[in-house]
Amino acid sequence: MESSSGAMALPVMLILQLSLMGVLLVVLAAADQALLPQALPGCTDRCGDLVIPYPFGIGEGCYLRQEFQITCDQSTQPPSANWTGTDIRIANFWLAEGELQINSYTARDCYDQQGEGTYHNSPELTLVPPYTISDTKNKFIAVGCDTYAIFTGYRGEERYVTGCMSLCNSLGSVDGSCSGVGCCQTSIPSGMTNRTITLSSYNNHSDIWSFNPCSYAFIVQEGQFSFSNTSFQELIVTEQLPLVLNWAIGNEPDPCDAAEKRQDFACNKNSKCVNHNNRNGYVCECLPGYEGNPYLPDGCQDIDDCKDSNPCKIGKCVNSPPGDYSCLCPKGYRNDVMDEKICIKENPKNQSKITLLLIISLSVSLGFLGMVVGISWIYWAMKKRDFIKLKEKYFRQNGGLLLQQRLASHGMETAKLYSAEELEKATNYYHASTVIGEGSYGTVYKGILPDNKEVAIKKSKIGARAQSDQFVNEVIIVSQINHRNVVRLLGCCLETEVPLLVYEFISRGTLSEHIHKETKAASLSLGLRLKIAAETAGALSYLHSSTSMPIIHRDVKATNILLDENYTAKVSDFGASRLVPLDQNQLSTLVQGTLGYLDPEYLLTNQLTEKSDVYSFGVVLVELLTSKVALSFERREEERNLASFFVRSIEEDHLKEILDDDIVDDGHVDETLKNMANLAKRCLRLKGEERPTMKEVATELDGMRITIMHPCGKADFGSEETENLETNDVALKGDYGSSSTITSTTSWYDSMQKQMLMPYDDGR
Ligand SMILES: *[C@@H]1O[C@H](CO)[C@@H](O)[C@H](O)[C@H]1NC(C)=O
Repeated sequence: MESSSGAMALPVMLILQLSLMGVLLVVLAAADQALLPQALPGCTDRCGDLVIPYPFGIGEGCYLRQEFQITCDQSTQPPSANWTGTDIRIANFWLAEGELQINSYTARDCYDQQGEGTYHNSPELTLVPPYTISDTKNKFIAVGCDTYAIFTGYRGEERYVTGCMSLCNSLGSVDGSCSGVGCCQTSIPSGMTNRTITLSSYNNHSDIWSFNPCSYAFIVQEGQFSFSNTSFQELIVTEQLPLVLNWAIGNEPDPCDAAEKRQDFACNKNSKCVNHNNRNGYVCECLPGYEGNPYLPDGCQDIDDCKDSNPCKIGKCVNSPPGDYSCLCPKGYRNDVMDEKICIKENPKNQSKITLLLIISLSVSLGFLGMVVGISWIYWAMKKRDFIKLKEKYFRQNGGLLLQQRLASHGMETAKLYSAEELEKATNYYHASTVIGEGSYGTVYKGILPDNKEVAIKKSKIGARAQSDQFVNEVIIVSQINHRNVVRLLGCCLETEVPLLVYEFISRGTLSEHIHKETKAASLSLGLRLKIAAETAGALSYLHSSTSMPIIHRDVKATNILLDENYTAKVSDFGASRLVPLDQNQLSTLVQGTLGYLDPEYLLTNQLTEKSDVYSFGVVLVELLTSKVALSFERREEERNLASFFVRSIEEDHLKEILDDDIVDDGHVDETLKNMANLAKRCLRLKGEERPTMKEVATELDGMRITIMHPCGKADFGSEETENLETNDVALKGDYGSSSTITSTTSWYDSMQKQMLMPYDDGR
């Protein structure tokens, strides 16, 4: 023992030198650990300077299991902590990782100059569970220039073999690393319980004997052996090198979740159980922020962060579990805003600096946010402004400003300016189901305003834009008309590309629908027809004379006379006809039959007078009498134009045949019918000046109404009225009969009609 101790002195120093840092750390760790109890109460926790932590222990009742029993051999210097019953000395215990360090022999194979070898195999190291050789902390290393080394180990029954070889002629430039020149290293498998090292050489070191007579092989803790060009000499005297072993609680696989439930679970307060790969059993670790021995009954203790040093620097450190502390600042200091662990002088200047910093960072982020919001708002606003601008453009274009001005100056509230949105909502965005009329002029929608008022909204076709002044004029004039037989214009909307007109809604639709459709025709008696005719005439008469400025409807026809609930006639669509430039839509206007109503004189001269309306009204009157449409291509050529056909029929005394059977009483043509027919004929005179005025027509029709409403009163007016009518009749007959020019005009008219219809005839 003595001699070996002396022989060991050099290697120990060498190891110390090699592993100065590691040893220093170990010493520091041991010093730290020593502050907390490591052994069970009443047990010694030391063997010499080495701390023996529980579950290891010296003496009965001081260790957890038999395999952790330690014998402290005081006979050696320093005293050695051996596994009880072995001469294996434990150099270090590491609780947290479940590791310990022993010193292990090196194997060597040495030759003399003659090539005679002496093989010094290291004693076989056989470990009992739970101990295994750490695969992560150790390396298998072979040193020599004619060397191959084999490691053999067992995991249970399974045998594993690994190794390395190194051949060299000179040491060359050995740079202190074990990388193949004079030294090779390899990892070992995990969980080895047995270590056998076999060493061999190829040429008995014969060529390299002068500088390398021996081969060496060993398993050593990584970092505890550094190869250098002096290693060959030094290793001759080095018998043992540190080796790291693993240990754990339990000799066989023992998952933590199962172990935790058992009575003998070894991990105590503030600790956790850990299973390591390829190791049996489990180990205990202190939770973060705690320290001490997790295997002791009291478990791990909170780390007092304030004990060793004052992390607060200025101020008092107050430990607060787990693993944290706070700083109580002295007077005149306060905790830093950013870091509570720092005390700073309560300096207004400083404070303002921080406040300024805060304000700057805050305002920068707020500014950025504001910018984002602002940009999106501007974008939105620009979009909105574009939309508003467009609306304003339309408003101006449609004469909105002028209208506003005029309405203001007239102090009128009759015409209202509706917003585009309002009307969109009223018609469910101009949904197809709300369409109540369609024509070349545009489309009429039924709308329901927020106050549940039903309205008809007329939307002109795009391109049929009115001259704004004229349009405004019309809106003003029409909105001024307050006649019970004129559809009331409630207002308009000028914010859309084409102006929208809002009228009162008339429930029964157009006269045309009533007299030209089989089912409805039956419901209109002669009395009703006369009423409608009289009311229409009254309205037109009013338009021509009553208002300050005569209004010529220009488009009197059955489809423009609406009937309300009580079959009261409502003239509509006047003035608005100007919205439809005739020069553009002439053809379509023809097709739709307005030609049947057109004053031939107006067609010829382009001179628009009130008498044009009289002519058109005459056609309507004929329609009321015959229930035939004004113009139909389905009829024989000479009958296509109702007006001329009707006039001819009267002249040829075929009136009865052309009249609607429903209103002809028992085959004899009623006096009233005759009068109406004659009135119609007069309205249809080719020369405007020969036609009666609307006022005269209205008066006559009113007279006829009274006659049929009060048949007995016929005698009262009778003589005079009848006489007048007869005189007129004679005059009429005379006009047509005596004037040859008119006859020629008539034929010109017919031929012109034919000419205009030619394309359609050809087309068929
Ligand atoms: C303990 O181990 C050391 C080193 O291996 C050895 O010298 C000593 O004899 C051992 N003591 C006992 C009691 O086995």
